Formats: sequence, C-alpha cells, structure tokens
Amino acid sequence: MPSKINKIGVLTSGGDSPGMNAAVRAVVRTCAYHKLECMGIYQGYQGLIDNNLTPMNARSVKDIINKGGTFLKSARCLEFRTPEGRKSAFENVKKNDIDALVIIGGDGSFTGAMIFQKEFSIPVIGIPGTIDNDIGGTRFTLGYDTALNTITDAIDKIRDTASSHNRLFFVEVMGRDAGHVALNAGVGAGAEEILIPEEDMGLERLLESLKRSEKSGKTSSIVVVAEGDKTGENVFEIASYVEQNLPYYEVRVSVMGHMQRGGAPTCFDRVLASRMGVFAVESLMRGKSNVMVGINDDQITLCPLEKAIKGKSKIDEDLIRVSDILSI
Ligand code: F6P
Repeated sequence: MPSKINKIGVLTSGGDSPGMNAAVRAVVRTCAYHKLECMGIYQGYQGLIDNNLTPMNARSVKDIINKGGTFLKSARCLEFRTPEGRKSAFENVKKNDIDALVIIGGDGSFTGAMIFQKEFSIPVIGIPGTIDNDIGGTRFTLGYDTALNTITDAIDKIRDTASSHNRLFFVEVMGRDAGHVALNAGVGAGAEEILIPEEDMGLERLLESLKRSEKSGKTSSIVVVAEGDKTGENVFEIASYVEQNLPYYEVRVSVMGHMQRGGAPTCFDRVLASRMGVFAVESLMRGKSNVMVGINDDQITLCPLEKAIKGKSKIDEDLIRVSDILSI
C-alpha cells in the first residue's frame, strides 16, 4: 500500500443509477481540490482490463450533476470475476500509476473490489450506487430516491386511467432480490397491495385482499409487484390468476422496466452523491481502504465492504404494517 495517495481512479459498475454522475463529479473535484490526480475509468472493471481510462480535471465533470445514467458508462464485467481478468486490470493500474480506486456500484461491484484489494493490496473505497437500496451499512444508496419519485409519478398516471376505467392494475417495479423500491413506491403511490421478495404473500391472500377492496367500495386498484416477488412466476401470471378468479375485475399489467432507472437525479441524490464523493477521496487520503461510504442518521459514515455486501438492508416491517392499515 503506498504511503501517500497521489492518483485516484474512479469507475461506475453494475446497474447504473441516477446520482452516479454527481458522485464521479464529486470524486474528480475533490481530487483537484487536494491536488491529486484523477483518472476516469470507462465501463466499470472492463475499462481497467482494457486500459480504457482518461485523466480527469475539475472541468471534465462540468454539467453532469443533473444527468442520469453514468457518463463513464457501466458494465457487469464477467472477465473481472476471473484471476486472469483481475491480473490484467492490476497491470493497467500499475501502468497508469493509480494508487487507489473509488468504486461506485452495488454489492457485485463491491465483491470485485474486495477481492481485488486482497489480491493486489490496492486501496479501494466503495460508494453505494443502486436504485435497489439493498446494501448494508447505509440508510440510502444513490439513485433510490430518484427511482422512487419516478415510479410514484408513473403510478399516479396509471391511477388516472385505472380509475377512469374501473380497472385493477398490476405494476411491476425493479428489485430482483429486494423489495425496498416496491414497498416505498407502493406506499407513496397509495397502492392497495405490495408484493415483495422478502414476504411470500401467497395468491390466496391476494385474492382475499382484492375481494375486500371490492366489497369496501373501491372501483379501481393498484398492486405493486417487485420483480423478484415469490408469489407467482411473474407479474403476468399473477394478473391472469386474479383475472380468472375474480372475473369482475378488468385487469391490466404495466411493467415499469428500465425507465425507472433513468432520469435526472433528485436533489436528495445529488447532495448525497456530493457528500459521499468528497468523503470517499478524503477517507482514502487518511489511509482508509476496503470500506464503503454510507449515510446513517444524516452522518456520512464508513463500514467494511464485507458488511456492506453481506449486511443487506432489512425491509421496513413497520412500513408493511402502514401499507396494510392505509389500504383498507
Ligand atoms: O441492480 C439494479 C437493478 O436495477 C435491479 O433492480 C434489476 O433487477 C436489475 O438491475 C436489472 O439489470 P439489467 O439492467 O442488467 O437487466
């Protein structure tokens, strides 16, 4: 491990999320502020393997704080999972005199960072960037707030057409393994039911709940379904099961898809990204490594990468109760 950090490499990896650009900007400008060199690495770990990187200065990151996606581009790099891939990546780290890395991404990206750090003793620090909000050691990940706002906005629109036609809508949102997006967007949009991977509600209970809704005088309903929900095979199967069993409902399905991952970051995500980016660089300068920056009780914190990966964030049981009470 070099005693002094002179040059930092920054990359974005895994599924992109709004706020990643703001975080890169913060990393690059904090480097400039402290007179460190900074290299932007393209396409996540793939850019390290391919030596696809470029020097960045404060002006390289102008006009990006407000942009969704990641201008450095991102990838889920399979080659980096192999020892050969990581060896090539480290050769390019050395060739470019990079002393430390900032990895902006989710648990898969942090797993790669941890292995890389262990194999080659290169200091690494993570910034949590994923709309899923499923990382341990932080209350919020970058992009989560933006995605929630995008989804609630879309569901508000779906509700307009649902109530005009007295229809029951199933809205699928992202979240292969975690239901934070579905639960929070569902409560925010006033959904009647929310199906998440953490809880198998069961199709029979869903039917009972929809029957109650109909009896209570509701003429239209929204059911938010997380991608990874265990109730049925997929949202279309759940919808068709309900349609067969409750023929008085006219059912439609709307899949949010990748539109929920794009768009300009909210102010919350921009500020969070800015705070995390500054903290990441200054933590590396203080000799920290193998840790992730998080936010807890509005304080920017550090936690071991291992805890971030394995910790996962717990689903908010109380919010499930809130949803049950309010969907009466
Ligand atoms: O990890 C973020 C995420 O948006 C998940 O919610 C979703 O399941 C997945 O990425 C989709 O990945 P891809 O864009 O590779 O299809």
